[in-house]
Amino acid sequence: MGVSVRDSALALFLLLGAAHPALGQDALRGKLLYHDIGRVRGTGVSCVDCHGGIPGALHGLEKVAGNPNAIAYAIGAVQQMTPLRGRVTDADMADLAAYVANPTVASPGVQLTTVGPAASPYTSERLEFARAGTSSVRLTNAGALALQLGAAPFLDGPAAADFALQGTDCEPRAVLAPQQSCAVQIEFRPTGGTGLRTATLHIAHDWIGGGSNVALIAR
Ligand code: HEC
Repeated sequence: MGVSVRDSALALFLLLGAAHPALGQDALRGKLLYHDIGRVRGTGVSCVDCHGGIPGALHGLEKVAGNPNAIAYAIGAVQQMTPLRGRVTDADMADLAAYVANPTVASPGVQLTTVGPAASPYTSERLEFARAGTSSVRLTNAGALALQLGAAPFLDGPAAADFALQGTDCEPRAVLAPQQSCAVQIEFRPTGGTGLRTATLHIAHDWIGGGSNVALIAR
């Protein structure tokens, strides 16, 4: 079988892309997709979930470096990849191939830390309150490119009424430069119930996951 028009167009695109500074942009978007195509394209599962992080990715993922056709082939041929069928565009595949070829592409990075009596010793994605009081969650852009916040932080979940946002400098749409951070103060103020109470703090941003979530737990 000859080389199709689409393949030649793609090859030309990659060739031009290699000489073009915008290729970094594509690899950046590819990094987002690799970790989050499940959300972005509604496939429910992302490359990283099955292949693991790069370097060291499993199942022959290295074939993808600079080669979008390897992704199209895999989506059609690999049984486990059926959730991706019909949902990954040619542009997505080109960006994914650019990322796998350049996994150290500069990107934003999200780091959560929790401070205060409720900080969990196990994970920064959980605040455990033993009694009423205030603790805080700090979101730091640990990456090399700016991170943009989305809508204002908010609480939801079954016991959201037992928690309150006391204050935050995570302003809607604010841009966090590399190493900048913002924080949200959360108060646990029980409304009378007892036992396990849970809620979730959401901080929206434009990087992997579209936001960060912190579980709020009181017993
Ligand atoms: C639900 C799990 C799952 C997801 C999600 C997934 N893969 Fe795979 N993929 C696999 C498995 C398992 C194999 C190995 C199949 C085998 O060797 O029989 C594979 C194989 C591959 C291969 C090699 C195919 C070959 O020619 O041998 C490529 C390339 C690939 N995947 C790319 C991707 C990319 C890019 C994504 C994200 C857009 C992705 N995969 C998402 C499970 C997954």
